[in-house]
Amino acid sequence: MTDSPDHPGPDGPAGPDGSPAVADGQDTAATTAKKARPHGKFRRRVAAVAALGVGLIAVGGLYAVFAPEPQTAQAQPDQALVARGAELYNETCISCHGSNLQGVTNRGPALIGVGDAAVYFQVSSGRMPMARQEAQAERKKPIAEFDPDTPEGQANLEALGAYVQANGGGPQVPQQTGAALIGSDPARGGQLFRLNCSSCHNFTGVGGALSSGKYAPPLAPANEEQIYTAMLTGPQNMPRFSDQQLTSDEKKDIIAYVKSVSEGGNNVGGYAAGGIGPTSEGIIIFIVGMAGLIGFAMWLGAKS
Ligand code: HEC
Ligand code: HEC
Repeated sequence: MTDSPDHPGPDGPAGPDGSPAVADGQDTAATTAKKARPHGKFRRRVAAVAALGVGLIAVGGLYAVFAPEPQTAQAQPDQALVARGAELYNETCISCHGSNLQGVTNRGPALIGVGDAAVYFQVSSGRMPMARQEAQAERKKPIAEFDPDTPEGQANLEALGAYVQANGGGPQVPQQTGAALIGSDPARGGQLFRLNCSSCHNFTGVGGALSSGKYAPPLAPANEEQIYTAMLTGPQNMPRFSDQQLTSDEKKDIIAYVKSVSEGGNNVGGYAAGGIGPTSEGIIIFIVGMAGLIGFAMWLGAKS
């Protein structure tokens, strides 16, 4: 239906009282009929707005009640912890990573966006603070101040991480620790490990060589948090596995698998020839044995 200029609808060009703006001698009966309808509509609109308001207040109230606590906790980092972290950073890291995490040319990369997950991984595994430039920062015994096995070291690691997190952001350490990070399905973890990790770390996580003097280290020495944060941050040549690529539960199952093979609980037997069981070892014995026999036959032939 289209409104003619003589009979504008309620949304048409109307005066403040709802009557047509230009009333040039038309019948008043039609105008009063038009006036009556907008009133009902107005009431319905007020009611709808009121209902919407009540609904919004209810939703807001419910949100305030049920909002997850950690969100607000993360939004406001603990200032004392960050200040303590700044102290530790200025003592041990600033010379290579700069006063604003921006990095120092030829000394260390920027730490913006690496998150407290990377800080935990690098420092708790003794890779940082780095002593000298080398092809690959190696796993070492962490300096006593940052030893994850002591309560003091844990507190310092947390403070250092909080400082880098507050100023640079990035992936965060998992809320859980230790055994809580071990998933319930090591078999699925094993499948995921063979798909995503074994090309570098070998089937049972014993590690292997990569190009240009780099290597994927054995995984047995790493604790649960280090395996988790290694996946989350992808140190050096290792790819990063975000929560989109491997969900938190999948990461935990991988940890369960790595722990089960490195503690010997799920040993498939044989020597460390890939650790994939009797087939690989059978092949190796066959090849070595055949080569020996052929060599012996040739030696006999040459003698006679
Ligand atoms: C002697 C220089 C040096 C010192 C001191 C040092 N770093 Fe590093 N850092 C490096 C270099 C070089 C790299 C890059 C090599 C690597 O990733 O293995 C690096 C890498 C890192 C990374 C990984 C960055 C990424 O992109 O994933 C983190 C996190 C880190 N350092 C944190 C620290 C913290 C925290 C300290 C202080 C406790 C520290 N570093 C002390 C030189 C240093
Ligand atoms: C492209 C090769 C590659 C792939 C794939 C890979 N990694 Fe790594 N990984 C590395 C390298 C290289 C390092 C050593 C990094 C360093 O020292 O800075 C490493 C380090 C680690 C460490 C630290 C060990 C230690 O010494 O503290 C863990 C744990 C780890 N990887 C787990 C995994 C898991 C789990 C997967 C699969 C989800 C995976 N990696 C996939 C190359 C790889």
